[in-house]
Amino acid sequence: MAKENFLKENNAQHFWHPMAHPSEMKNNPPLIIRKASGLEVEDIDGHRMLDAVGGLWNANLGYSCEPIKEAIRKQLDTMPYCNTFRGITNDKAIELSYKLKDWFSIDGMERFFFTQGGSDSIDTAMRLVRQFWKVKGKSEKTKFITLSKGYHGTNYGGGSLCGDARFRKNYEPGIPGVFHIPTPYTFRNVFNEENPEVLSQKCVENFKEQISYQGADTIAAFVMEPVIGSGGVIVPHPNFMKLIREVCTQNDILLIADEVICAFGRTGEWSGSRLWGVKPDVMTIAKALTGGYFPMGAAMMSGEIAETIEGNNDMTGMLGHGFTNSGNPVGAAAALAALEETLRLNLASNAKARGAELLLGIKKLKTKYELIGDVRGQGLMACLELVGDKKSRTPLDKNTVGELFKEVCDNGVLVRASGNNFILSPSLIIKSEHIERIIDALDSGFKKFLN
Ligand SMILES: Cc1ncc(COP(=O)(O)O)c(C=O)c1O
Repeated sequence: MAKENFLKENNAQHFWHPMAHPSEMKNNPPLIIRKASGLEVEDIDGHRMLDAVGGLWNANLGYSCEPIKEAIRKQLDTMPYCNTFRGITNDKAIELSYKLKDWFSIDGMERFFFTQGGSDSIDTAMRLVRQFWKVKGKSEKTKFITLSKGYHGTNYGGGSLCGDARFRKNYEPGIPGVFHIPTPYTFRNVFNEENPEVLSQKCVENFKEQISYQGADTIAAFVMEPVIGSGGVIVPHPNFMKLIREVCTQNDILLIADEVICAFGRTGEWSGSRLWGVKPDVMTIAKALTGGYFPMGAAMMSGEIAETIEGNNDMTGMLGHGFTNSGNPVGAAAALAALEETLRLNLASNAKARGAELLLGIKKLKTKYELIGDVRGQGLMACLELVGDKKSRTPLDKNTVGELFKEVCDNGVLVRASGNNFILSPSLIIKSEHIERIIDALDSGFKKFLN
C-alpha cells in the first residue's frame, strides 16, 4: 500500500478531479479516503465518518455487501469480459435483461440497452429516441425540452440538457435543439410563486408555450428527473410529472424519465416515475443498479418503441450505437446480486421510513439556524439550502459553506457540499440511529461554527 506521505504529497497533483477547479484542488486538497465498510468511510488519518452521501447516490447497499462482492469475484474467475456487439452475448447480460423486465414492466419498460453509467444512459436514450422518430418517418422530431435545474450527466447530449451553466458554459456549443422550461422549485423561481400546485401548473403552461413556439412536429422528447437530485433535491408537486405526461401524449412527444438517481428505491418507491404514478416512454438507470460496485447503466424502452424499431424492415432500425462494456458480464453479475439484495431487504420501504425521519430532523434544524434557508426531501434524498441572509435568500458564500462542511466532517459525518447546498443521500440500508447521528453532526457543526 502506498505510504501516507506519498499519497498526501501527490494528492490532486497529477489527476484532475471532476467538478472542481484543478488549482483549487491543489491548494485545498481533497479528503483521501482509504477504507470503507458498512455505512462508514475512513480517511488516511484514521478518521471515520458516516457516509451521508452514499458514495454518490449509488452505494445503496453500503460498502460491505458480501453477495455483490462474491458475484464479482466469481464472475472474474469464470469470465471477466465478453462483448455484446452483433453476434455474441453472455449469460449474465441475458439474465439481467430478464430481471430488469420483471422490475420495470410495471413502468411500461420492455427493452434494455446496457451502458457504462448514467451519462451514457442519457445519451443512449437521446440517440434512440431520435432513431425511433426516424423509423416512424418523422425525421424532423429531433429537439429536446427539459427543466432548467436538471442534471443529466456530462456527455455532449446530456451535458447540453443540463440547466446549470457550470456544467455547460465552458464546453459550448452544446448540441443544437435543446430548450429549457422553468423548474417547479418553490424556493426560487421566475414566477415568485411559493404554492407548489400553482407553480407546477405555471411550469406546465410554459411547456405548452414552448411546444407551440417550437412546433410539436420538431420535438423528440421531454426529459426530466422525477425528483431533481444534483440540482438540489427539488421535489415537484405530486401532479407535476402527470401533467407533463399528459401534455407529451397530447402532442406526440416522448417522455424520458432520468431515473439515474431515483430508480431502485431511493425516493421510497421502486422508481421515481412510479412514485408519481406516471409511465414514461424511456427510462435511464445507472448508479444503484450495481450499488456502486461496478460502473454500469441502462436505457430502457417502452413496448411501443420496441415494436417500432423491431418492426422496421430497412436499416433505419439498426442500432448503430454501443459501448465496449455494454452488457459487461462482471457488471451484470454485480447488478443481479445488487437487485436481489435490494428486494430482499425491501430498501424502498426503508428509504420511505428513514427518509421521513431525516426530513423531520432537517426541518427542526431549519427552525434553529438562520443559515438554513430551505430544506427539502423525498425518501432518502434531502437537501439543506444555505443562505447568507434568510430574507433575501442570498446563497451562502462558498468559503462559509466549506467551513461548515469541515465542521460536520469533524463531527464524524460526510455530507456533500454542492454550491450553497448540503445534499444528503445515504445508503438505503441506513437505520434510525444513523439518521440521528447525521442530524446531531449537522446540529453540532452549525452550533460550533456560529460560536
Ligand atoms: C439524474 C442523473 N442523470 C445522469 C447522471 C450521470 O451519471 P454518471 O455520472 O454515472 O455518468 C447523474 C449523475 O449524478 C444524474 O444524477
